Amino acid sequence: MKRLKITGIIGDPIRHSLSPVMQNAAFQKAGLPFVYVPFHVRPRELGHFLRQAASWKDLAGLNVTIPHKEAVLKYVTDLSPEAKAIGAVNTLVFSSKGVIQGHNTDAPGYLASLREETKFSPRGKTIVVLGAGGAARAILYILAYSGVSRLIVVNRTPGKAQVLVREFQRRFGKTRFEASRLERNRLRTILPQADLLVNTTSVGLNQTRFSQLPLDALNKKAIVSDLVYRPLLTPLLKDAKRRGNRIHPGFGMLLHQGVLSFRRWTKKRPDVAVMRKALLDALKRS
Ligand code: ATR
Repeated sequence: MKRLKITGIIGDPIRHSLSPVMQNAAFQKAGLPFVYVPFHVRPRELGHFLRQAASWKDLAGLNVTIPHKEAVLKYVTDLSPEAKAIGAVNTLVFSSKGVIQGHNTDAPGYLASLREETKFSPRGKTIVVLGAGGAARAILYILAYSGVSRLIVVNRTPGKAQVLVREFQRRFGKTRFEASRLERNRLRTILPQADLLVNTTSVGLNQTRFSQLPLDALNKKAIVSDLVYRPLLTPLLKDAKRRGNRIHPGFGMLLHQGVLSFRRWTKKRPDVAVMRKALLDALKRS
């Protein structure tokens, strides 16, 4: 019998992660001798855990979630260019000789999902990104990389948007970056120009809504995308749908980052439909 390969996810908290259900369903469908386990790792335990884990002969890889996506960088021996630019790793690949690769599948997972569900092509477009934190960095990177012409970063704390915009402008000369405060009047002039509006903040969790977002100013043809996947349809997405805008829920990014992690660990393509169903069932139960 083949030895079981171990994969899993590290985070704090970790109990609510939907990845074990999704990945185990995919391994089972593919008939692969892999298992995916949630590991509760607190910040002070991260170094110790990773040093131990690197010595497990059967460990193939790990996903990394909140709050370790940035902290894990210093334990990685081979960092992918996208993870380096984003400054966050969500997928580790372990190989013999102590090599720990760090990848970011959140960013390409977002794009894969956006393309699959909406057929949106970022090249030449104007995109408004709400938020300037870690999740925004992944989205800005993949959109600029895909040839977007204008990226407007809108944040409650405008200074953070400005810092981010300056950094990305240095990296991507062909995209024009702008920063704005999250404020109703400013957004009235910005939103009509957007082909895509993306929420990367946590607003939407627990049914919360933006108070300073005049959605009625948005072009009817614009797509509204939300990274929040709990609830499946956030108040922002419901409002956008009601207005007749096309929407892109956060569920798809969660699915496709998992698809890309599976491919990194197994070198095989998973059954995406099986993963989608496992994830949706788990989300509806939770
Ligand atoms: P993540 O890694 O998930 O992006 P983060 O780095 O803490 O988390 O960033 C959170 C983002 O959500 C920030 O842009 C934050 O705005 P501030 O920079 O002003 O803090 C934004 N955010 C969180 N709660 C918000 C709220 N209630 N309204 C508007 N923006 C909010």
